[in-house]
Amino acid sequence: IGSTNGCERTSFAFLRQELPVRFANILREIELLPDKLLSTPSVKLVKSWYIQSLMELVEFHQKSPDDQKVLSEFIDTLIRVRNRHHDVVPTMAQGVIEYKDMFKVDPVTNQNIQYFLDRFYMSRISTRMLMNQHTLLFDDKSRSGHPRHIGSIDPCCDVVEVVNDAFQSSKMLCDQYYLTSPELKLNQVNGKLPGEPINIVYVPSHLFHMLFELFKNSMRATVEFQENSPSLSPVEVTVVLGQEDLAIKISDRGGGVPVRKIEQLFSYMYSTAPRPRMDDGRQTPLALSTESVEKLPVFNKSASKHYQATSEADDWCIPSKGPKQTAAL
Ligand SMILES: Nc1ncnc2c1ncn2[C@@H]1O[C@H](COP(=O)(O)OP(=O)(O)O)[C@@H](O)[C@H]1O
Ligand SMILES: [Mg+2]
Repeated sequence: IGSTNGCERTSFAFLRQELPVRFANILREIELLPDKLLSTPSVKLVKSWYIQSLMELVEFHQKSPDDQKVLSEFIDTLIRVRNRHHDVVPTMAQGVIEYKDMFKVDPVTNQNIQYFLDRFYMSRISTRMLMNQHTLLFDDKSRSGHPRHIGSIDPCCDVVEVVNDAFQSSKMLCDQYYLTSPELKLNQVNGKLPGEPINIVYVPSHLFHMLFELFKNSMRATVEFQENSPSLSPVEVTVVLGQEDLAIKISDRGGGVPVRKIEQLFSYMYSTAPRPRMDDGRQTPLALSTESVEKLPVFNKSASKHYQATSEADDWCIPSKGPKQTAAL
């Protein structure tokens, strides 16, 4: 819509339908969470935000797209909804922490929460993306940013520039925290247009967010692992653009992760970082859970079945314990 001098009424007509559908879908899934998690104050609060926003958006079904007042009222509502949902991620995380502290988390619950949060965060990213596009394109007060950008999308996103920005931000944080930080060693290959800068159509803020999280991990690992060495190994980044895909590989000499723990890394229930405090203001801790991107969840029978799985014996043999301390032979 935005690239072709889009029509606000068309966008309004689309969003007043699409947003309530997505909010309603995710509300149905919230209701399937374990009772003990649902009854934590944090999750209750998150749920109330979704209900409130759903009601406010549904209101617009009776209103005319031809009325300029309705259109500007809609923008106000989108901004209000966006602000209301600002703290959904830390609040949800708080709920999970409360649950984890009070009850032992069995593997089925862990799996259900994982399944839910992947879909919940994906849904949140998608609705925020839609709301942001509308306000960035049609609200005079929100219109800003680079003239090249279409809303939050950069049709010519300079990937290496974003890598450098994210690295510098993480480096600043790392310096503050550890009084030292590793350097960046960057390698780029443009397989599509050899020698040219690497550009893709993308939302730079999303790319930044992902890279920033991974750089914080790499820096923390490097500094802690190489505590006693005189200099730190650099974090190496390879950016490769192929015919269809872009790949970014980040590697460090921070000691790595044993294979048996790899699954834990993607679990929202797991972090080795100290608990973030809710009253810490806006300061970003060096370690935080991440948001995932792309693909949309729909609530249907097979989704609801996921929450009903009973605890059966695992059909894979996975060594879950650490290596035994074997006595020297
Ligand atoms: N580059 C890395 N090198 C070594 N360990 C890592 C690296 N990245 C992540 N980890 C391990 O995985 C854990 C989970 O990472 P993450 O999901 O970012 O959560 P957090 O950083 O909040 O702990 C980290 O605490 C750390 O133990
Ligand atoms: Mg981290």
